[in-house]
Amino acid sequence: MIESNLQNHEDYGSPFKGRRGQGLILAIESSCDETAASVCRDGKILSNIIANQTVHEQYGGVVPELASRAHIQNIVPVVDAALSTANCQLSSLNAIAFTQAPGLIGSLLVGAQFAKSLSLALNIPLIAVHHMQAHVLANLISEPKPSFPFLCLTVSGGHTQIVVAHAPLALEVIGETIDDAAGEAFDKTAKMIGLPYPGGPLVDKHARNGNPKAFKFAEPQVPGLDFSFSGLKTSVLYFLQDAIQKDKDFISKNVDDLCACVQYTIINILMKKLKKAVEQTGIRQVCIAGGVSANSGLRNALKEYGDRHNWQTFIPPFEYCTDNAAMIAITGYYKFLAKDFTELNVSPTARAEW
Ligand code: KG4
Ligand code: ZN
Repeated sequence: MIESNLQNHEDYGSPFKGRRGQGLILAIESSCDETAASVCRDGKILSNIIANQTVHEQYGGVVPELASRAHIQNIVPVVDAALSTANCQLSSLNAIAFTQAPGLIGSLLVGAQFAKSLSLALNIPLIAVHHMQAHVLANLISEPKPSFPFLCLTVSGGHTQIVVAHAPLALEVIGETIDDAAGEAFDKTAKMIGLPYPGGPLVDKHARNGNPKAFKFAEPQVPGLDFSFSGLKTSVLYFLQDAIQKDKDFISKNVDDLCACVQYTIINILMKKLKKAVEQTGIRQVCIAGGVSANSGLRNALKEYGDRHNWQTFIPPFEYCTDNAAMIAITGYYKFLAKDFTELNVSPTARAEW
């Protein structure tokens, strides 16, 4: 278990005193149903440990109370593994970063309390990280990295945003969803097709064998750079209700085509707004981030369109797309450099503005 070395506690009066490195940071992520911890030194990720929670599968979605309980069970072994993989002792750390918002409040509380306790016990600074900002900065973890300014399409289970990154800590949202997130659109339509939660990765898998033009679903007409996905959900629902009346086995006979068409429509909606954002801002460095950026269709669409239109595109490795603590660590590192620390009385919040 975690080995705490507090004998030299008095040495740690100043945040930067008496330590080996200058930027050795432990980061904790617990906003939803992944318990994750990562250690980075001077912006280089040394470990990235994730404990997934399988308990939610049988309920078709994340059950908040069960998520909190699983975080409580997982957090000590996950932090322990992150430290030992990084070959790092608690006593060498320079700061603790944690996801402060947004997310499920019970889940956030587990990570926040753990981070605060360590910060207090080790007498080192505490860094509060915004989960969506961290998704964007996941693009700064590994080479090739974009330079500033860059655009980022952040597509997760709870958010869909287009962000201009002016600098690591100067991120501006220029478009976002007015209803469902792209990940929700994947998960909810997947449920209608009879696929278990989370449906996004399964839609991706089936779509590879399907015809994306087999059926046509409605695309929203939303002005500017904002998105809407609730119409797609309704369109798929009515289409399926109608089709099942004619053939009760329609869904099971057409899973691959249905997934390919749903994925095709979601990617079209996303890519249209991304093209518009490039036109409006003139920024041609384009990144994607968040769980849906693991989607093979979206990754290919961005790469192909970018190559044809002279964009420089950046796609994080899979392990930095879905929820992880390495993205909290890299954001924590930039905040550490800026001495952007938080007080021990900080509270996690379920919703948060930038
Ligand atoms: O960023 P993330 O891990 O958690 C949140 O912050 O919400 O995103 C989770 C979302 C889920 O909706 C999941 O279905 C979706 O990302 N997702 C995918 C794929 N992998 C994860 N959606 C489509 N294709 C994938 N390969
Ligand atoms: Zn996320």
